[in-house]
Amino acid sequence: MSERKMITAALPYANGPVHIGHLAGVYVPSDVYARFQRRLGRDVAFICGSDEHGIPITIRAKKEGVTPQDIVDKYHEIIKKSFSDLGISFDEYSRTTSKKHHENSQDFFTALYHKGKFTEELSDQYFDEQAGEFLADRYIVGTCPNCGNENAYGDQCEKCGSTLSPSELINPKSMLSGNVPVLKETKNWYLPLNDYENFLNEWIIDGHKDDWKPNVYGQVKSWLNDGLKPRAMTRDLNWGVPVPLPEADGKVLYVWFDAPIGYISFTQEWAEKNGKNWKDYWQNENSDLIHFIGKDNIVFHCIIFPAMMKAHGNYVMPKNVPAFEFLNLENDKISTSRNWAVWAHEYVEEFPGQQDVLRYALLSSAPETKDNNFTWKDFQTKNNSELVGIFGNFINRVAVLIHKYYNGVVPEGDANAAELQEIENSAKEIETFLENFEFRNALSALMNLARFGNQYLQTEEPWKTIKEDPEKTAQSLFVSAQIAVALGQLCEPFMPFTSEKLLKMFNVEKKNWNDISGVVIESGHQIDEATLLFSKIEDDVIEAQIQKLENTKQSNKKTNPNANPMKEEITYDDFSKMDLRTATILEAEKVEKADKLLKFKVDTGIDVRTVVSGIAESFTPEECVGKQVMILANLAPRKIRGIESQGMLLLTTKPDGKLTFMTPEVKIENGVEVN
Ligand code: 2FM
Ligand code: ZN
Repeated sequence: MSERKMITAALPYANGPVHIGHLAGVYVPSDVYARFQRRLGRDVAFICGSDEHGIPITIRAKKEGVTPQDIVDKYHEIIKKSFSDLGISFDEYSRTTSKKHHENSQDFFTALYHKGKFTEELSDQYFDEQAGEFLADRYIVGTCPNCGNENAYGDQCEKCGSTLSPSELINPKSMLSGNVPVLKETKNWYLPLNDYENFLNEWIIDGHKDDWKPNVYGQVKSWLNDGLKPRAMTRDLNWGVPVPLPEADGKVLYVWFDAPIGYISFTQEWAEKNGKNWKDYWQNENSDLIHFIGKDNIVFHCIIFPAMMKAHGNYVMPKNVPAFEFLNLENDKISTSRNWAVWAHEYVEEFPGQQDVLRYALLSSAPETKDNNFTWKDFQTKNNSELVGIFGNFINRVAVLIHKYYNGVVPEGDANAAELQEIENSAKEIETFLENFEFRNALSALMNLARFGNQYLQTEEPWKTIKEDPEKTAQSLFVSAQIAVALGQLCEPFMPFTSEKLLKMFNVEKKNWNDISGVVIESGHQIDEATLLFSKIEDDVIEAQIQKLENTKQSNKKTNPNANPMKEEITYDDFSKMDLRTATILEAEKVEKADKLLKFKVDTGIDVRTVVSGIAESFTPEECVGKQVMILANLAPRKIRGIESQGMLLLTTKPDGKLTFMTPEVKIENGVEVN
């Protein structure tokens, strides 16, 4: 085992805030591990950042009607703040849109390119001729061949859950234009993963059978048994790191090529700021590289990224990849799109000062070996019965009694008392569990020391012995003070805010983990006033959270699963600013050299005006003449192809992707307002 730990936590996509599933499965355990390693005095780099490329970002941007850059700017800040609020102690939290990362991932690609590690392959990809873009699988919708769902995606049907490829869809359509996409040949650069099978078999299958988690080992084995295939490392997309080759215009690096390189880029950013050498962490056999991830990321961290590093040369291979299973919420799968989640930033606002309660609850039900479940009732019990009832209660009793009988000065006691052995035992036990990535067991070992402290006080009854045997009281409160301070030291990786409060209450500094044994607070040491570490969470607080989820459930019962989320709320005043009224199309003609545009003469009841609209693919001019329509009359005029358009006609999209006018049910006068 090395004294240097290069710890990474999976880069969250900046397409939404982080939720308890992310926290329980990656960020809280990795933070516990990093904090613990630092306490052992090891040289730790704990690195993360936002994953800002890839389809999840562009889809979100399209849904919200903004640019991908707007999306990543917004969510990067929200995510970064949530982590910091919850005490996740990254040494560096950066983002994959940083200049350094773009350069670094391009350099990595170029190095592999010059070493001849890629193969160039031509393939047929779906292309939207109108939008002039190749389509990622997610951008193609059609009918699922398995269940008939008309809104299945090119990679998956969300109704029946089957994995699809775009060519399997019946009636595929582009989400960009609604048109039928065509197949078009394109060149991309592939990493022949099959060339790395022997290396991966030797390194993981032969080398890590016993020290990697069975879920990780098993998944890798099954991938290798099935045989690996070349995988494209570039994509025809317009959002991502541009491929650094002159012939690759309009192509970007595959997001799973650039994202893991992000770990290296961000280490470099951190190293530059802190006078470190990044190579000590990534290119030195004395460095233990540890990736904390969710189970859906196993193949990328155990097969693809190692193959990339191997192809490059010089890099150390991960020492371990502790992957977690998933956390459910109230027995249902956590889902960003269904808003079925407890969001980190909302928790921080709604439970101020109670970050450690969430850390504790998530760690104690961390999905280490199988999927697990979070319920608000369970959260309440963990707080009220365990943190308030056991941990907090013990610390409070010790501090109050020392003040009551000794004016806050730790009494004289026998430093060789047998009970003190419990402290060293607990420290060792927690250490063994954490080195083995057994976070739940480590937390139980911590709580067992608090339980031991409570039982000890209960047996010794210092409040009774104070009269007839004051020496016994001194001894029991001396021992209790040792246990209380040891808890303050040992709980730091798990509950850093509590540890700080507790150690401050006893006026002691944080110690190296190896020094947490025997006497951890001397007789004669003055302690501060007792303060409460935890407070009871009442039923109404929990009910409010359960009700919030119930409301989500109701609003999820939407009849159209593809309907975009509601836009930001507006006031009546905002609405009343719009001058919407009935109008009739008097004339219509095509705009020259503009395939999509039609020019109309429209009678709005208040005037006859010109409107230009991009709807020529849905209507012929003749079809439009005489139609009664709705117009937004007070939209500021704008020039389209040199013609001033004075308003906007209201239309919507039919299931076939074509447009249709919003027309009143019965013919009415022109110029009648809509409200
Ligand atoms: O699954 C995810 O959320 C990805 N954004 C994880 C990326 S981890 C990495 F960078 F390798
Ligand atoms: Zn289906």
